Amino acid sequence: MEKMTEQRLLEGKRIVITAGPTREMVDPVRFFTNRSTGKMGYALAEAALQLGGDVTLISGPTDLSPPRGAHFIQVNSAEEMYEAVHSGFNQADIVVKSAAVADYRPKEILDEKLKKQEGSLVLEFERTKDILKSLGERKDGQFLIGFAAETTNVEEYAKAKLHKKNADMIVANNVKEAGSGFGTDTNKVSIITADSVRHLPLLSKQEAAKEIFKAAVHQMRGQHEE
Ligand code: CTP
Ligand code: CA
Repeated sequence: MEKMTEQRLLEGKRIVITAGPTREMVDPVRFFTNRSTGKMGYALAEAALQLGGDVTLISGPTDLSPPRGAHFIQVNSAEEMYEAVHSGFNQADIVVKSAAVADYRPKEILDEKLKKQEGSLVLEFERTKDILKSLGERKDGQFLIGFAAETTNVEEYAKAKLHKKNADMIVANNVKEAGSGFGTDTNKVSIITADSVRHLPLLSKQEAAKEIFKAAVHQMRGQHEE
């Protein structure tokens, strides 16, 4: 009986998940990116499908194949991810921002390849849009889950992000800790909401993903009862 309920946990719900790094071009042959492999986001997409959800996966460049059954939108830059997430936002019930979005991008993208010159190179960067924060500003019933990859003061920084971005939940991890973070198949996360902090043990990204959705649905039910 319990198993049945768990299997149907996300039935009738539309879940939008962002995954992977973004890629910010400098010129036609070079870009800035980060170490995200997309594994956590793809595990979330798979778990959401298993729980019966209607899943849209918006992904930066990764080596992974999208899970069968997910609507898949491939993007490169933070700007493209911003557009893709916002265009489906009205229809979404849960949005999970597990992507590692670049905070900065080159101020201009050169049309031609940058040729080397004597001396050092100085490039100017500008801020990208904060996608999660922009969703927090326009949310209207959607449940917003952000991620926080930290190397220190994990709980404190994650709580600050929860409030600053008007998210409903932040999944935090210390990327310096063994078994957590970039490229691993496991993750040790803390689930942080406005009134609770739960530390999960080291789990496979698949198991962690299920726990995250279980916690989200639990919290959503609580919110509706208020
Ligand atoms: N995020 C986003 N758009 C950005 C940067 C971050 O949507 N331009 C989202 C991430 O997808 C994640 C959350 O915000 O869900 C937290 O990202 P993180 O990089 O940990 O925090 P930042 O706010 O960027 O702060 P900092 O990198 O300085 O810690
Ligand atoms: Ca960041």
